[in-house]
Amino acid sequence: MRVAVAGATGRTGGEVAREAAKRGHEVVSLSRTPEGDQHDIADLPAVLAEADALVDFTVPEATVEHAAAAADAGVPLVVGTTGFDEDGLAALRTAAEQTPVLKASNFAKGVQALRRVVRAGVAALPDYDVEVTETHHSGKRDAPSGTALTLLEDIEETRSDALERTYGREGTHERAPEEIGVHVRRAGTVRGEHEVLLAGDDEVLTLTHRAESRRVFAAGAVDAAEQLAGRDPGFYDFSEVL
Ligand SMILES: NC(=O)c1ccc[n+]([C@@H]2O[C@H](COP(=O)([O-])OP(=O)(O)OC[C@H]3O[C@@H](n4cnc5c(N)ncnc54)[C@H](OP(=O)(O)O)[C@@H]3O)[C@@H](O)[C@H]2O)c1
Repeated sequence: MRVAVAGATGRTGGEVAREAAKRGHEVVSLSRTPEGDQHDIADLPAVLAEADALVDFTVPEATVEHAAAAADAGVPLVVGTTGFDEDGLAALRTAAEQTPVLKASNFAKGVQALRRVVRAGVAALPDYDVEVTETHHSGKRDAPSGTALTLLEDIEETRSDALERTYGREGTHERAPEEIGVHVRRAGTVRGEHEVLLAGDDEVLTLTHRAESRRVFAAGAVDAAEQLAGRDPGFYDFSEVL
């Protein structure tokens, strides 16, 4: 396959380019400031005319533009970028009317398993307090992480009572039963850690995933690109493609 990578100079896009090349794919690296054999992101439409997939790990405002180009070219799009607002998500859905689009807040297979385990845990312990904590490197822009937001949606869909997200805490008041605590830490080079804590009377269950390198995200994103080839236009879920 010929795989175009937007954000190939970045932390995660760079891993995607290496992973795709390792699997024998032809990689076209895109950058706003191209060097060597990289292509200028401004030439994306021309690159897409000869590409089998576009993998994007950039920033939401750029991804939205790249999605429109992928839709015009009918090239499958894998989106790893996180932090979209409603308009950004709507733009991705519009692109999905013309080409296959797969967006995942986390391409680690372990996180897909974590999602299932969290749903099962929350269903089994319906009246337990729930707290979600995520930790990422100091360069991460969006908070809470896209993965934490996905886990929160999973928990909220599983619990029958209406939970209220509480971001951090300070002051002097007790925890309300409907609260779901959300805690964000930014430090050092941490690749990504997510913990869901369920606590009842005299017991605590913690479910944790830790990415130990960005290669897990890259591997999942390249899997997704391979799986999208030949599919109909539409908005795909990573777990469904796995
Ligand atoms: N889904 C997942 O599994 C997963 C895993 C890890 C990270 N992420 C997400 O992936 C995204 C990238 O993270 P990262 O840590 O790799 O970031 P990063 O190291 O900052 O890399 C982002 C790259 O995007 C390009 N870029 C930035 N602004 C751009 C713009 N306006 N137009 C076009 N290109 C632009 C830059 O390349 P040039 O300067 O060369 O253009 C940069 O190298 C974030 O949203 C992050 O949350 C998702």
